[in-house]
Amino acid sequence: MCGIVGYIGKRNVVPILIAGLKRLEYRGYDSAGVAVIEDDRLQVVKEAGKISKLEETINQADYVSTIGIGHTRWATHGEPTRLNAHPHTDGPENIAIIHNGIIENYNVLKSMLENKGHQFSSDTDTEIVAHLIDEFYQGDFEEAFRRALGELTGAYGFAVISKYEPDKIYVARQGSPLVVGVGDGENFLASDVSAIISHTRNVFYLNDGEMAVLSREGIETKTSTNEVVNKKVEKITYDIQAIEKSGYPHYMLKEIFEQPNTIRDAFRGRILIGDGKVKLGGLTEVKEKLADAHKIIIIACGTSWHAALIGEHLIEEYCRIPVEVEYASEFRYRNPILSKEDIVIVISQSGETADTLAAMKEGKEKGALPLGIVNSVGSTIARESIAGVYIHAGPEIGVASTKAFTSQVTVLFLIMLMIARKKTMSVVTGQQLLTELIDLPAKVQTILAQSHVVEEVAEIYKDKKNFLYLGRGINFPVALEGALKLKEISYIHAEGYPAAEMKHGPIALIDEDMPVVFIATKDQIYDKVISNLEEVRARRGKIIAIASQGDKKIAELADHIIYIPQTCQALVPILAAIPLQLLAYYIAIKRGCDVDQPRNLAKSVTVE
Ligand code: AGP
Repeated sequence: MCGIVGYIGKRNVVPILIAGLKRLEYRGYDSAGVAVIEDDRLQVVKEAGKISKLEETINQADYVSTIGIGHTRWATHGEPTRLNAHPHTDGPENIAIIHNGIIENYNVLKSMLENKGHQFSSDTDTEIVAHLIDEFYQGDFEEAFRRALGELTGAYGFAVISKYEPDKIYVARQGSPLVVGVGDGENFLASDVSAIISHTRNVFYLNDGEMAVLSREGIETKTSTNEVVNKKVEKITYDIQAIEKSGYPHYMLKEIFEQPNTIRDAFRGRILIGDGKVKLGGLTEVKEKLADAHKIIIIACGTSWHAALIGEHLIEEYCRIPVEVEYASEFRYRNPILSKEDIVIVISQSGETADTLAAMKEGKEKGALPLGIVNSVGSTIARESIAGVYIHAGPEIGVASTKAFTSQVTVLFLIMLMIARKKTMSVVTGQQLLTELIDLPAKVQTILAQSHVVEEVAEIYKDKKNFLYLGRGINFPVALEGALKLKEISYIHAEGYPAAEMKHGPIALIDEDMPVVFIATKDQIYDKVISNLEEVRARRGKIIAIASQGDKKIAELADHIIYIPQTCQALVPILAAIPLQLLAYYIAIKRGCDVDQPRNLAKSVTVE
């Protein structure tokens, strides 16, 4: 969502802040700003729009400072204007604050402060916190900072500097991630480690209710109620070029082409082919509970929710355990019926999605065992779940999720197999399925090698206004995912639908101007899908079919065919998703869209 970066040390802070904010651009934003302390005076520069505009303005000011904070904002309260951009200050500019999250009681606090004579210049919730700290300041800045925190309800990741304490940065975390980077005579902070990894790999994450005071000499960590906390410094292993584009024009295309490796990484070291079993270290303690679960509820948002739907098919088909899939934003307010025999699995690439985190907490409160399937190591959801599995997809920079999706489905396949082999699945079936999984990355590579076929299809349909994506059974979630990919990066309206259900309304949309994407791979309901395809053809709909290699029949029916290799039914969704990712990518590029940072979207939705 928003991006936070901060530095205190011996070097000029401005280039460090700007470079750090640029690393966070992928998270989506609409304004940016920095605050530095020069000669014990606070200097604040902020602009609506891109970081390049902020950089131009601040370079004219030519500040010399070695302490500062920077922010990219994705508007929640107030328009994306310069005035609403962070940092925000108290009136006389003694204090500057940047903030990720939402202060839920800011109206009450704003009225209280206005009654005490405070005047505000923005429509944001954040600005009131600077005034609140100023209101409480009577010589002890840390005390004032803590008192202000005590008044707030809602979610925040704060970084604050002040001319009262020109050699310290104050940070606090409640519901919005903050990572602290430990340097030699210098220290860093960020909302995402990618902003500071080029300076230090030694980091620690603040937990909810914790704060820290960064100085050149060191870092004090404590709770916001002033109890000392000792934090374990972790070493970040992935390289900076893992974050670079590695020669691809866009992060999204790089990440699509990374999938043979990322799928392999998702199962690497987790397959025991001799026993036809899997080994998931993060679930060792809960394996029995999973196998004996009364019900499994899988909760997520967006693409992760589509992966959850595939998980439902896998677990119900092979483990015979009832599965419910829920949108996190719906689940958390629905007073769900749960028991301690139930398992809640949350799926989240970022591990910071506010609705998913809240839904997990709701499940926990109702006694269900909360497990996480997460990509971002050390993220909130990863740390708040009792147990879980990392998908090891590496940093996913493109806002449209691709490699994380296929790795999520891979991990769900592994979890299914772990449970099924404790129940009725034979060792031979386990070995067969795992052999198919081991062979999968090469099959993904085969599909990627024919990306030019997909690009040709994209060229034909790039100017269409609407698309329909149809699939059945385990491929219906793939239709949903294909539609989401297209709409979120090309801004074309696209809808995923169960193929048979299309007769109950959407068929009215079919004409020669409507491209219909069918996932029509060979399986036990193939003939049914072909009937649906005939219905579309009879109404002159243009058919783009994702078909199984060797299927000749479909060649007579579809206008365009993208073949994918044969594999077990349980793994078809992973292969079928690849051409749909490419189709969305090429159409969006041909329409001149910003595929890595689509309009209005953020990589991690850390607000409700
Ligand atoms: C996917 O392409 C979207 N960017 C979005 O739907 C995303 O999947 C959703 O916001 C969930 O994010 P998470 O997996 O990080 O929780």
